[in-house]
Amino acid sequence: MAYSEKVVDHFTRPRNMGSMPKEAPDVGTGIVGAPECGDVMKLQIKVQHDTIVDAKFKTFGCGSAIASSSLATEWLKGKTIEQAAAIKNTDIVHELNLPPVKIHCSVLAEDAIKAALSDFRRKSDVARNPVSGLS
Ligand code: FES
Ligand code: FES
Repeated sequence: MAYSEKVVDHFTRPRNMGSMPKEAPDVGTGIVGAPECGDVMKLQIKVQHDTIVDAKFKTFGCGSAIASSSLATEWLKGKTIEQAAAIKNTDIVHELNLPPVKIHCSVLAEDAIKAALSDFRRKSDVARNPVSGLS
């Protein structure tokens, strides 16, 4: 499998690899797995005043999955929650020039973003309304 230059670049110099404390109230965590291959991606965002101020990832997977999540963290930083929710796997496919068999790797990144956003939203709802958060 020939990887594009951009994939190789992200794979050899991954941006924002690492993790943040999952329990922090301003951190949203998304962990998703790809049924196609069993790869797993963890993506985290740190949100302040509706803006993503930091993003980290850890991916156990192929080069394209690592590149997709590395790229996703770069794109997430500085975006609002709303802008982040609009990131599509097709944007990643296009930027990294992924071949058809590697499209699900980018889907993993979009799913991880969505999961991190919903984890963050759930936490901030609980913080705003602790009683309903218990139900
Ligand atoms: Fe081998 Fe994803 S299928 S790493
Ligand atoms: Fe499965 Fe890339 S995530 S091959």
